[in-house]
Amino acid sequence: MLKDSIQNLLGQVREMNAANAEELEALRIKYLSKKGEITTLFNEFRTVPAEQKRELGQLLNQLRQETEGRINELREKLAESQEANAEKLDLTRTPDPIALGTRHPLSLVREEIIDIFSRIGFTVAEGPEVEDDKHVYGMLNFAPEHPARDMQDTFFIEKEIGVQKPTDVLLRSHTSSVQTRVMTSQKPPIRVLCPGRVYRNEAISARAHCFFHQVEGLYIDKNVSFADLREALLYFSKEMFGPETKIRLRPSYFPFTEPSAEMDISCNICGGKGCSFCKNTGWVEILGCGMVDPNVLESCGIDSKEYSGYAFGMGVERITNLKYRVKDLRLFSENDVRFLKQFESC
Ligand code: DAH
Repeated sequence: MLKDSIQNLLGQVREMNAANAEELEALRIKYLSKKGEITTLFNEFRTVPAEQKRELGQLLNQLRQETEGRINELREKLAESQEANAEKLDLTRTPDPIALGTRHPLSLVREEIIDIFSRIGFTVAEGPEVEDDKHVYGMLNFAPEHPARDMQDTFFIEKEIGVQKPTDVLLRSHTSSVQTRVMTSQKPPIRVLCPGRVYRNEAISARAHCFFHQVEGLYIDKNVSFADLREALLYFSKEMFGPETKIRLRPSYFPFTEPSAEMDISCNICGGKGCSFCKNTGWVEILGCGMVDPNVLESCGIDSKEYSGYAFGMGVERITNLKYRVKDLRLFSENDVRFLKQFESC
């Protein structure tokens, strides 16, 4: 019986072939592994009567050697044919083109804003998105009960997950917080732009989102005046929206500036004549600004008798809408390549 099995396997082994490394490995496992067919025959061999041991032992050893030999031979053959194939590879062939992405419209506009202001001496400063009450509100002259601090507006962060204790850790609701960080760490003259993402607890719709982007500007020096602010903003508006652009400043209120203003530009769609975009007023609002309140300078350790300054803050989405007419804010964060591809040539 055992002799037949050995003869049978010998026949199989002499015929065996493998087209690739996986098939070869399967053959090795089939015959030579711990549970392989040849190993099984060796186990059976233990029970063979003494007078047959010599003959069958020799046959079995021959079977094992031939199998190992054949497997090695096949392995060498495979390696040789692989080398031959590698020689056939045409390494000069032009590769398949890599699909290049496009720059996000918000990045394009942020870079353009930075570029325009860098030409009049502004550099970029960044600050944390997870902030504390002091830098976002307290040092910026917000009264303790100011509604901006309200849970309806600001995302507060729980210090321990699931434990809602009052906390002063929050997601910044404006980039004005970077002003306080810069003013407490640098000496005037200061001329910085602070771009970044901000968060507000708003229901998501075509016109509002729970996060958006701002660029804040801050200039502190001796004798900075409101005329300097107006001149810088007029220069920016003309560079951004074209040389014929006009600006107008309307009185407004922000806790951290005094006086404060809201700035409109002449509608760049109808040229100021009045259209549905500007609600027939000829003007569209683009930013808030003002002279830095002396209380803010003092809370940041800057002598308000020696120094004055201006600040402004704008929404990047708003400017992008004006430039590229994006009607739905949600498009900016949906990652739809059909939307993003439209900015390929910008
Ligand atoms: N922080 C204001 C906001 O988020 C924008 C702003 C207004 C920034 C006036 C300023 C400023 O620096 O002077 O609505």
